[in-house]
Amino acid sequence: MNNQRHSTHSRFYVTTPIYYVNDIPHIGHAYTTLAADIIARYNRLKGRDVFFLTGTDEHGQKVEKAAQEKGRTPKEHADIMVDNFKNLWIKLNVTNDAFIRTTDPEHIKIVQSLLMNLYEKGEIEKRLYTGWYCIPDERFWTEKELVDGNCPECKRPVEHISEENYFFLMSKYQKRLIHHIKENPTYILPEARRNEVLGFLENNVLGDLCISRPKGRLSWGITLPFDEKFVTYVWFDALLNYYSATRYLAPYTLPLSENWWPPDHHLIGKDILTTHAIYWSTMLMAIDMPLPRNIFAHGWWTVEGKKMSKSFGNFVDPNEMVNKYGIDSFRYFLFREVPFGLDGDFSEQALIKRNNTDLANDLGNLLSRTLTMIEKYYGGEIPQPPSYYIKGDLNNIKETNIMILVEEVKNIGEIELEHLMKGLLFSHVLEKIWSVINFANKLIEVEAPWNLWKAKNTDKLSGVLYTLAETLRILAIYLFPFMPSAAEEMWRQLNVKGDLSEANLENEGKWGLLMPGEKIKKGSILFPRIETSRKTRIRNLS
Ligand code: ME8
Repeated sequence: MNNQRHSTHSRFYVTTPIYYVNDIPHIGHAYTTLAADIIARYNRLKGRDVFFLTGTDEHGQKVEKAAQEKGRTPKEHADIMVDNFKNLWIKLNVTNDAFIRTTDPEHIKIVQSLLMNLYEKGEIEKRLYTGWYCIPDERFWTEKELVDGNCPECKRPVEHISEENYFFLMSKYQKRLIHHIKENPTYILPEARRNEVLGFLENNVLGDLCISRPKGRLSWGITLPFDEKFVTYVWFDALLNYYSATRYLAPYTLPLSENWWPPDHHLIGKDILTTHAIYWSTMLMAIDMPLPRNIFAHGWWTVEGKKMSKSFGNFVDPNEMVNKYGIDSFRYFLFREVPFGLDGDFSEQALIKRNNTDLANDLGNLLSRTLTMIEKYYGGEIPQPPSYYIKGDLNNIKETNIMILVEEVKNIGEIELEHLMKGLLFSHVLEKIWSVINFANKLIEVEAPWNLWKAKNTDKLSGVLYTLAETLRILAIYLFPFMPSAAEEMWRQLNVKGDLSEANLENEGKWGLLMPGEKIKKGSILFPRIETSRKTRIRNLS
């Protein structure tokens, strides 16, 4: 049974990078993880079996150094720091199915067995290496690659090193990788990033990858199974997490892990595209495993126009944002403000503006006006309109506005959501939903239920209010991946039976399931307005 279930395309596997435990999480970590959460929640709504993986990258120089500074062993440091990530994901309502740590003994065993396998196959070779080494980035560079004698990536000084090391023979996969990227236009997204990688591969000779570090220089890592004087390069260990997790953390382990491989999306930030698109892809080719279906590199957030950094004093702590503005405003802002894939600028003023206009004015008001009118005209019970409103029967609904609204709501669920979510076009999804919300708000003005009440036009009045309430019930399903708590609150106030997290888009998303006669439970305001203090306004003007 299980076998069959997982050989179908109904299983869905999404990953985030695993984060270094050298420091506390920031907005960049929250961004990727929330994006993965949106994708995971959406795919669960579509009835797919989802494996959503996140975790921490705990080996290597960065972590060793951070631990030293705190007077801890690297493992002690990792054990303390990992909770910052785990707790943040709980706080942000993130529904990861597993959390991998690269210090997990199971992960270490799998990395070692793959290293052994590659060594035995002749994919790894020992060589004398002379080159320039960047300690913070843990990377070798050739003389030619240096910029003004410094690391081309972080611009810091490099050290000249000559030593024996092990190399993964990455260069031999260059042609195959170019072919794969060309044959699979959505392998790397967005397209601009794909072109960058392709351009690089077509115009440069790919070198081999140094995958060892002598223990004399770095001891905090996974020992090479074929030479215990070395540990493996932190990226070689880290990238393998995507595979090792399917062997001991994935929800279904039979038959073996192959049922979760390959991943549907690796979500990453643009700065770690090379390691994924080139190192990881060629590693998988050497291991002889299918490549992921997609690697998506999102953009970077600046903060109030500047690169985020603790030394600039503009470090955005997601915990603080959530405490100040609430989980769903924060989640909404990040995915509405900037199309996923582009760079964006974070500012509290912009978040407040989104909260007050889109969430409080548009969505919040639509819910509260609709429920207030149901209370006023129908004693708080969902009205019983003529049956064509319940059926959403476009041929029989007489009012063009209502017809358009019903059609739009259905259209999003039946066609647009799937198409937009496949391309990870989150901001477009939200724009679509907001065009419906805005249309529904206008419909209230145009149809003026208060006049219908006065004119005793009950067919139309019940039709308008039923349509609005049913629109809100279905929009809550569409919004659930983005703003789970607000969506649940919408269902609670509409008194919809059942649990949104168990809902299925096709079943619960059908028009006409709201039951006439059910008592609504109008509650507190969905999104309170946030008042901006004069001080913040002035700071932002200057
Ligand atoms: O790179 N805006 O870990 P990391 C958006 N351990 N995203 C940002 C950002 C910003 N201002 N700053 C950082 C690692 N990021 C490795 C990954 S995966 C096998 C190993 C993103 O803790 C960045 O793009 O440095 C990356 O995706 C993640 O945060 C970095 O995490």
